[in-house]
Amino acid sequence: MKARRILPLLALVLLMPRGGARAVEPAALYAELCAGCHGEGTTRLSGSPYPALFGNPQVAAAGPIYVALKALQRTGNMYPLCALASDEEIATLANYLAAANGSQSPPLSPAGAAALRPAVGDCPVPH
Ligand code: HEC
Repeated sequence: MKARRILPLLALVLLMPRGGARAVEPAALYAELCAGCHGEGTTRLSGSPYPALFGNPQVAAAGPIYVALKALQRTGNMYPLCALASDEEIATLANYLAAANGSQSPPLSPAGAAALRPAVGDCPVPH
């Protein structure tokens, strides 16, 4: 039973290109990796556990590093984005969402995103 749940996700992780092959266009990346849960709007769907990431005061206040950490950490039931997204993709998404929310923090570089990876520990395969 467990293997049945793990295998499709493993296949997804293995089949997905890590950067390079995927266009690093922020809105497209967001649509591909985040919108399935968070949606495209500014309000959380009623009853949903997924906070809206636009019009989000927490993202506005805490900036791109916060977004990158949340994305890397497997917050809630988020996918292991640490395994699915390259440093460049994490930085692109973090800067895109921070800017969309009016954050005044400086943008995160791909090297900055790479430097955050150790802070979130191992990159676990989902269970
Ligand atoms: C499988 C569903 C899922 C996907 C896909 C997902 N998230 Fe999440 N995310 C969640 C849940 C659930 C929470 C709330 C749990 C929490 O904050 O502890 C959350 C919280 C967050 C938060 C914190 C929001 C706040 O108000 O503090 C950020 C930032 C975030 N996600 C970024 C992202 C980004 C960026 C992506 C795409 C790269 C993404 N998420 C993809 C489920 C998901």
